[in-house]
Amino acid sequence: MAEAHASLRFDPSFAVGDVNPHLFGSFVEHLGRCVYTGLYEPGHPTADEDGLRTDVLALIRELGVTLVRYPGGNFVSGYRWEDGVGPVSERPRRTDMAWHSIETNEFGLGEFARFVAKVGAEPMMAVNLGTRGVQEACDLLEYSNLTGGTALSELRRAHGAKDPYQIKLWCLGNEMDGPWQIGYKTAEEYGRLAAQTARAMRLLDPSVRLVACGSSGSGIPTFAEWERVVLKHAYDSVDYISCHAYYEEHDGDVGTFLASAVDMERYIQAVVATCDHVGAVVRSQKRIDISFDEWNVWYMNRPANPWPSDWVVAPRLLEDVYTVTDAVVVGSLLITLLQHCDRVTAACLAQLVNVIGPIMTEPGGPAWRQTTFYPFAQASRFGRGSVLRTLVDGPTYETSKFGDVPVVHATAVSNEDGGVTVFAVNRDTENPVRLSLDGPMRTVVSHSVLRDDDRHAVNTLDNPDRVKPSAGDGVTLPPLSWNTIRLTA
Ligand code: AHR
Repeated sequence: MAEAHASLRFDPSFAVGDVNPHLFGSFVEHLGRCVYTGLYEPGHPTADEDGLRTDVLALIRELGVTLVRYPGGNFVSGYRWEDGVGPVSERPRRTDMAWHSIETNEFGLGEFARFVAKVGAEPMMAVNLGTRGVQEACDLLEYSNLTGGTALSELRRAHGAKDPYQIKLWCLGNEMDGPWQIGYKTAEEYGRLAAQTARAMRLLDPSVRLVACGSSGSGIPTFAEWERVVLKHAYDSVDYISCHAYYEEHDGDVGTFLASAVDMERYIQAVVATCDHVGAVVRSQKRIDISFDEWNVWYMNRPANPWPSDWVVAPRLLEDVYTVTDAVVVGSLLITLLQHCDRVTAACLAQLVNVIGPIMTEPGGPAWRQTTFYPFAQASRFGRGSVLRTLVDGPTYETSKFGDVPVVHATAVSNEDGGVTVFAVNRDTENPVRLSLDGPMRTVVSHSVLRDDDRHAVNTLDNPDRVKPSAGDGVTLPPLSWNTIRLTA
């Protein structure tokens, strides 16, 4: 059989838009072992003075995370932020109903602020609009962002943080449409609450940027109508609407799974259309952006760990072990986020450590990179600049869910140093594709490939480097692979 061939056409003069660094965000929820024994483990041989694991901090820096969403997730809808500030010995132990766990509150806002500073990321804070409302959101903002001279800003200072945390990005609740969410609401109820909370928060600190909850997924029956109604109330008060999407391979249908980005693309297009429709109805010049603040591969129907029967601290939950196939899908989802960088201006890989994370840890033991670590790290490192308009010409294949889908999924980013980086995925599980690059930049500086002969290969505690990038030949996209090709003029 003749080798398959695809071409990618681009021209640095034609750009989709500039990549906002917030596109390479991640997510830390009080869930399972993401915080406790994940990034925070006093007593671990590598722990620093704040109880943070320096081995994990180093991996997070290598991953290139720019933004960290916190503290949930489902967790936030039952959370009292006051529990997590002040002397640790006086903090209450609580039940976390969202994840049926004990929350010790050893790690809270101050610890989180020190953590993000150490990894060089920006914080993105979620307020509880499930069991709480406008007042508690404003209290948290006052505690976090006011310099001093008021009860809560002085309380922060008394807790040892002289300077305000200056948190700019805020999520107005989490997945408020979902019946699993404590205090879930109708679109009318949530739209009014989001608008009221946003207006009050802006009175306190006009510099904040606010995210309204969109649907918790595009498959939920109220999808798109939820966005329309919420924005009808909140259009003028918020800056972003959120999107959440998780993908997994169902019944061995790898072709559909590898095409998950088609679903993500349709989702983004539908939300953009809905935002712009409401913008036209309310006669606004303003544009609402998308904060894709939860996305990943997640084997929801194949739980990695059972639901805890007892109330325990930091149970092993959602500890998915990712294959090389999963990493290729994650890469493809990153390509889609980049291709929509004109409207998707923030995004968070959910989550960061242990819980459906690119980094895994063992309590008292080592930390290692999952397969999904690599596409994210490379996209964050080389996906800076302007995303170019591209035309991919090549073979297609039939999927059960999305019809005909291109075998090669690719994008090109014009980097700040004058080079161009091409990210490309080969969705063919058996055959390589020869990729010709049709643009003014032709000299390949480097080609990194993530692949494996076994599409189920994973990295584990015992074999942490089974799957890692290797050098490619600059033209061949091996079967089922993620590729980063760097070019100069
Ligand atoms: O990321 C895991 C969970 O997925 C989050 O807590 C929730 O927001 C979503 O449903």
